[in-house]
Amino acid sequence: MKERTRLKFLAIMGIEVWVPRDYCSVIESELLNDHVLLESLEKERYVGASDSRNWQVLTDNVTDCRRCTVCQNRVQALVGEGNSHADLMFIGGAPDETEDQLGAPFVGQSGQLLTEMIRAMGWAREAVYLTNIIKCKIPEERDPTQFEVNECLVYLEQQIKLVQPKVILAVGEVAAKALLATDSPLSQLSGKIHYRNEIPLVAILHPAYLLREPLEKRKTWLDLQVVLNCLKNGVN
Ligand code: URA
Repeated sequence: MKERTRLKFLAIMGIEVWVPRDYCSVIESELLNDHVLLESLEKERYVGASDSRNWQVLTDNVTDCRRCTVCQNRVQALVGEGNSHADLMFIGGAPDETEDQLGAPFVGQSGQLLTEMIRAMGWAREAVYLTNIIKCKIPEERDPTQFEVNECLVYLEQQIKLVQPKVILAVGEVAAKALLATDSPLSQLSGKIHYRNEIPLVAILHPAYLLREPLEKRKTWLDLQVVLNCLKNGVN
């Protein structure tokens, strides 16, 4: 081991060593740099650890959630799927039958179309984050009540804080209304950039609707261009 390295190790371990005075200042400044590096590594490890702990707590809370009666209807609650630090966060209304069975958002027929739309934007499905306002399947395919939305938003708020997306996509009217706390129909909400706690938000037509009305895909494609532009150039 080199003499300099040996001295640095000894100093880090707190063992005092006598060295010539001029050599001392060189070692001291190197040590200072090492400490800055060690501190930042330590911090990174701490942030990483607390991040995965927060995800774990959130996942446990959603999985065991009994905040409203919708829980009685589920096979399982769905937290979300994808890159937990994605630039793009897709938020739908609630899982359907297929999602409830398979335990992942947007994996049914409409989910497949959404996955194609994500690919058409130049992204892999795994690179974005997908979730829903409501984490459990809603009975009789009705819209969620305001109470159910409010109870479930607690989880979504935490997810948004953890993911820190650059742009949120509200997929369909249920999601757009809940995220923007408005009663306005999607026709009035799509086609422009909104903000939710300073994060740009674009509302798009639900892929289930696009499967029924394929001619509307063009409108959605334009909305997706707005999202891509937002990512590329930011918004003022
Ligand atoms: N529709 C949604 O809004 N979310 C899903 O996960 C599936 C269908």
